Amino acid sequence: MSRIKPYPVSPVRPVPAAIARPEYVGRPGPRPYHGSPVQTPETIEKMRQAGRIAAQAIAETARHIAPGVTTDQLDAVAHEFICDHGAYPSCLGYRGFPKSICTSVNEVICHGIPDARPLESGDLVKIDITCFKDGVHGDNCASFGCGPLDQASADLMARTKEAMERGIRAVRPGRQISVIGRVISAYAARFGYGVVRDYTGHGVHTAFHSGFIVLHHDEPSLTTVLEPGMTFTIEPMLTLGDYRSHVWDDDWTVVTNDFSRCAQFEQTLVVTESGSEILTQP
Ligand code: MF3
Ligand code: CO
Ligand code: CO
Repeated sequence: MSRIKPYPVSPVRPVPAAIARPEYVGRPGPRPYHGSPVQTPETIEKMRQAGRIAAQAIAETARHIAPGVTTDQLDAVAHEFICDHGAYPSCLGYRGFPKSICTSVNEVICHGIPDARPLESGDLVKIDITCFKDGVHGDNCASFGCGPLDQASADLMARTKEAMERGIRAVRPGRQISVIGRVISAYAARFGYGVVRDYTGHGVHTAFHSGFIVLHHDEPSLTTVLEPGMTFTIEPMLTLGDYRSHVWDDDWTVVTNDFSRCAQFEQTLVVTESGSEILTQP
């Protein structure tokens, strides 16, 4: 299995002028968020709308995964879908990110930049899409096989989805946020999988990354108590080998140090009175 290498990146895709941009576009980075982690019902309803477009965009983009298709072509499909639905692709221009979505293949953990690399049969492809609409973001990610996957990769993918779902089911008001990483890492440990620590879930709403952190590994010192109205992502990245990572010279692409494969699933959710509701639903 050959290692993923960087390929040329196409020019920035234009976004129609009528589509509202997040505040960070055209600036080096976002303004820090100092508001509450708890969102109003109005903000949450807007997040359902942004989240729906983000979820539908993944489904539409994933239909195009096939050997020979480049990740830049996937970016084009997603970009057009998102703009056609009146939303802005949140990644584009976020801290200088040059494309509309993240496409992370095989040993790339996350933040892969769509480029001219043609997908190969057997590739494990993560598509991470965030949409901004009506002042709020919805952020989700899913993993797919390009053609048939080897058994280890297929198992990793299915179990990473299950790990995310267990993390989501653990969310309840009154519990500490550390319960999420505890259930995810306990499940991953059954299979000897690595749990990526350098990248985390996060508060998301009017801010893309609010500063509120959701760990996927077991860290009991995180004592923040979950409250109804909190909105954040759960987005475990599990690896077939070691969890440690490094970043390419492009300052974005995150790769496992041992080049073991990684799978990821992500949803944006809101804490409810009885548990949680997923806001990134098609
Ligand atoms: N969507 C990613 C996340 O899950 C963030 C991508 S930031 C980008 O948090 F700049 F790389 F697009
Ligand atoms: Co996220
Ligand atoms: Co994401």
